[in-house]
Amino acid sequence: MKRMMIAALVSLAVCLPVRSTDGAAVFKELKCMKCHEVTTLEIKTTAKDPKKATDLADVGNQREEAWLFSYLKKEIEKDGKKHKMKFKGDEEQMKVIVAWMLTLKK
Ligand code: HEC
Repeated sequence: MKRMMIAALVSLAVCLPVRSTDGAAVFKELKCMKCHEVTTLEIKTTAKDPKKATDLADVGNQREEAWLFSYLKKEIEKDGKKHKMKFKGDEEQMKVIVAWMLTLKK
């Protein structure tokens, strides 16, 4: 019986979703590479046409925290367009990903 309990607990722990606090991992988890790449970290895009993927390798130099939050939330536009993707993560994941993007500098 005890062994079964342990086995049950172990399988439960394995099933629990792993909450990532690593920006690159969240980036991959939310499939941002469908349209982006980070050349400096060798994060490759999965886009059908890789030429269309935007490289975010220098985004930390180009953007500020507030801008990134607003853009990901689709509150503001870039070149007259809102971000193409509705953010599928939660607030915590957005914080992790924005903090990480601010560190991306060439
Ligand atoms: C369906 C495609 C698509 C997906 C998926 C996507 N994006 Fe984008 N993203 C775009 C497009 C298109 C642009 C505008 C590119 C441009 O103007 O050069 C953009 C621009 C951006 C920019 C602004 C770059 C800049 O400074 O000009 C950031 C930051 C960004 N995306 C982050 C993300 C993050 C984080 C994710 C994942 C949560 C993500 N994107 C997922 C299509 C996508």
